[in-house]
Amino acid sequence: MTASELRKMYVDFFEEKGHKVIASASLLPENDPTVLFTTAGMHPLVPYLLGETHPQGRRLTDVQKCLRTGDIDEVGDDTHLTFFEMMGNWSLGDYFKEEAISMSFEFLTNVLNIPIERIAVTVFEGDLTVPKDTETETIWKNKGLKQTQIYFYGREENWWGPPGKTGPCGPDTEIFYDMGKPKCSDHCGPACKCGKYVEIWNNVFMKFNKEADGSFTELKQKNVDTGMGLERVLTIFNGKTNVYDTELFIPVMTHLNNIIGELDAIMSIRDKRIICEHIRAVCFILGDPQKICPSNTEQGYILRRLIRRMIRLFKKAGINQNYLCDLAEVIILQYKEAYPEIGDNETFIKEQLQNETDLFLKTLDMGLKKADQYLGKTDENTALSGELAFKLYDTYGFPIEFTCELARERGRSVDMESFREKFTAHQNKSREGAAEIQRRAGGS
Ligand code: ALA
Repeated sequence: MTASELRKMYVDFFEEKGHKVIASASLLPENDPTVLFTTAGMHPLVPYLLGETHPQGRRLTDVQKCLRTGDIDEVGDDTHLTFFEMMGNWSLGDYFKEEAISMSFEFLTNVLNIPIERIAVTVFEGDLTVPKDTETETIWKNKGLKQTQIYFYGREENWWGPPGKTGPCGPDTEIFYDMGKPKCSDHCGPACKCGKYVEIWNNVFMKFNKEADGSFTELKQKNVDTGMGLERVLTIFNGKTNVYDTELFIPVMTHLNNIIGELDAIMSIRDKRIICEHIRAVCFILGDPQKICPSNTEQGYILRRLIRRMIRLFKKAGINQNYLCDLAEVIILQYKEAYPEIGDNETFIKEQLQNETDLFLKTLDMGLKKADQYLGKTDENTALSGELAFKLYDTYGFPIEFTCELARERGRSVDMESFREKFTAHQNKSREGAAEIQRRAGGS
């Protein structure tokens, strides 16, 4: 199964079930100011989940570009990604639990041909405010799932959203693929991290809104929001053990390996994976029509952090020049058919990668030398002081997470509390400075 086949299988299936296919929205949310990036297919639909009428109706489906920054440090293992594609279908006050689960079940068993015994699901166990979801349990049982395939969990596992402070949310039922290996213990279930169960799809019954004061109110309509991870499904159904062995990463990994081979350099598998993953994410952020540039704030900061991390990994392997533009070319070629914007913005992507590289290479060597000094000098058991971490940030352009990574590599940590204090004091000073300049310019 290829990625383009899977995308098509998904949207064709839901189109046949009366859904309108909508285009992937921007990676930078236009309809949801509560988040920096689109982290799920629902963000562009927030106003409609809250009750506005969508011009294309009450049943929608798409494949949405998403970016989650919470797991950046995990990238390089078999599964964690920052950028990913989420296939989804929505009911905006149209169908609810019964029909949503029936369609999911049909897609899983008739289109993906998953044997029913390979499916495990989780259901909301209820709490003081929202009761146990026995309706969902019954629906799954009627589909033929045994009680042993149905697991109940609380809010931690079975409540989705909102991703920001406020917004639509609700109990969910998550669908897992059972990899077929034995349970690791008597308590092993979908929430266990042993690898027996891999989450592939989530159906959220979005009938609540989280308000600014933390309370939950009922929305005026009952919605369904689903999300299936394209990379996950592709990995499992092609019998791969990690996402880098799928067609999505093979071209860029091959290219990187060729570069490293020609230079006779050595780079760990984890570092190679990080570069392949981050370059894809960066191409999608830079390729977005909103044209975000690397900077020290918000989305621009994430972009900077990803790019600078890649530059450092090349450096760590003893490679002074970096090859980000070459790698970007591979990604653009691969994805421009499915996402034409990254082809349209190829020049911008490469320009920004080059600018950021040139900028960072000016301070990187000196910064690394200083970091070595700082981390070597102070007592091994103490954390690197916030003051020194701030100096690396302010003078040498080291994102704080990057300094933490350097410290971790040496078995050390960073005093984050004092770093934050220094950072805030600096921000306040800059703000005062800016206000002063403005005041003088205004002549008052
Ligand atoms: N919004 C839901 C999720 O991301 C479907 O899991």
